[in-house]
Amino acid sequence: MMVKAITLLAVFLSLSQAALHAYVAQTSLGGVLYLVNRRYVLSQHYEPADLVAPRVPGGDKMGTLMREEAALALEQLFAAALAEGHELVASSGYRSYKKQATIWDNKVGQVGQRKAQLYVAPPGASEHQLGLAMDLARKSNGHLNAAFGKSEEGRWVAQNAHRFGFIVRYRADWTDITGYADEPWHIRYVGREHAQTIVDLDIPLETYVAQLSAAAFGEYLREDGE
Ligand code: DAL
Ligand code: ZN
Repeated sequence: MMVKAITLLAVFLSLSQAALHAYVAQTSLGGVLYLVNRRYVLSQHYEPADLVAPRVPGGDKMGTLMREEAALALEQLFAAALAEGHELVASSGYRSYKKQATIWDNKVGQVGQRKAQLYVAPPGASEHQLGLAMDLARKSNGHLNAAFGKSEEGRWVAQNAHRFGFIVRYRADWTDITGYADEPWHIRYVGREHAQTIVDLDIPLETYVAQLSAAAFGEYLREDGE
């Protein structure tokens, strides 16, 4: 334990303080890279302090609040989509722990737990609780299904979301890592710089955060043999 603590201290001191602070701030609760999934869950008490209603179609409902920075970015994304003729609608944004529990219970009741967990996060495990995720629909079709991904609107979102700081979070070829099936409608705000890098690397957020972590704490991890 003592060796671990001393090694960690040495790594901290050798890193650029700015890089370390940025990494720690962004991956901490409140940071835009904070990872939430079935392994890393949120407390039932977590609610972001800066939730606002994005000024976009569908954004005026209680269920479509987002954290302020993400809401502003979403407004820019919607404006750019509209300028190219794509009419998007905000369908589901911030969800409380309790709201997620209701969605989860309903899905389990409908299809059973094994199938439900491919599509819905259990309470505490949804990044909707972060206020950094939004489910998008088309104005012409409100359904959240595979057809969204194949539509012009869905293709535009897949190709352009990163320009506004969002990533399409769940993809069929990432199910082994994320735990979820394809969700072309679910976008997650991570900020422009990270979104661009994640798209360039073509990796899920779990892998990106693990790589950042290895870059920040790699020496520590190697020395510990883990
Ligand atoms: N549908 C996503 C995984 C959620 O429930 O957060
Ligand atoms: Zn979603």
